[in-house]
Amino acid sequence: MTNNSEQKRSGRANQRQRGMLRGAYLGMMVVALAAAAWAQQNVQQHDGPGQGRMRGMMGEGRQDMETIHSLFGAHQKISRSVKKLDNGVETVTESSDPKVQALIREHVGAMYQRLSAGQPIRMWDPLYAEIFRQAGKIKMDMFNTEKGIRVIETSTDAWVVKLLHSHADGVSEFVEKGMAVMHKEHPLPAAVLGKAVATMKVLPLRTSVGAGKDKEVEQLFEGPGRKLVQITLRNNSILETHKATLPITIQCVAGGGVLKVGDALEAIELKPGVLVTIEANALHKIEAKPDVSILLTQFTAKL
Ligand code: HEM
Repeated sequence: MTNNSEQKRSGRANQRQRGMLRGAYLGMMVVALAAAAWAQQNVQQHDGPGQGRMRGMMGEGRQDMETIHSLFGAHQKISRSVKKLDNGVETVTESSDPKVQALIREHVGAMYQRLSAGQPIRMWDPLYAEIFRQAGKIKMDMFNTEKGIRVIETSTDAWVVKLLHSHADGVSEFVEKGMAVMHKEHPLPAAVLGKAVATMKVLPLRTSVGAGKDKEVEQLFEGPGRKLVQITLRNNSILETHKATLPITIQCVAGGGVLKVGDALEAIELKPGVLVTIEANALHKIEAKPDVSILLTQFTAKL
């Protein structure tokens, strides 16, 4: 087969598949079916180990692994570029060998199908396991290029974007190093930390009573679903009996005292580490003996 006829055929296939797949979302049955058809079409129209093999929706691990092994075997014939986008990745993976082109397209189609149908692969590898857990949040578009495939994967979830970036780097390493890295585990991206930093706050909880007013109320945090307040009572002061309309917890962080709860005002000794849950509308009272500091967590209804 000449390069020209290969190119024309690729161009026609490109248009057909572009029309068929653009805008498709993972997790939707209609998309899964389109992907199956796409994969099948691809397999049938290229020479190579994938030719004529029909891929069932229920996953054929052996076949996918064969393709993957062949890709590793041919890694030196594969070129790849990765563009990291704010919302995902755009990759171009190509080869000048038509058989390798077919393998690449077959693999990507098969993996698309696996993501769509929730049929994980490489579950021992943390990155892959997480990608499959998040598959419903990945949008994947594929376009045949002259010598391979262009894949655009995006997500509106920042964490999933990090996964896509890491995965794309992992594929590039497969291409660069071949079999040597086939069994290498990919840890979850360091961005786990980034995610946590962006969504967490270290609160200035004091762990000693210290000096100050007899009654000190300091709001440490208010956010979706909860409000945290540190209350310090000094010199035997008392927080008189009252009730909250929301469930709370009280944790003693310093000093000592007595917490009285419920209509019977059942007494609980407060000392550092004591943690008590109190239901909404339950009466409670705190007496410092002589000083106590507690962390009050209010569970607000609003998320
Ligand atoms: C030389 C080896 C390999 C090549 C050339 C290759 C190529 C690709 C390409 C081009 C994509 C589209 C996404 C992207 O470009 O980043 C992809 C996706 C995928 N590959 Fe591979 N791959 C290889 C090895 C593997 C292996 C060993 C596995 C697992 C056993 C695997 C599983 C997947 C999965 C699950 C996806 C879809 C997930 C996603 O794109 O986020 N691949 N691969």
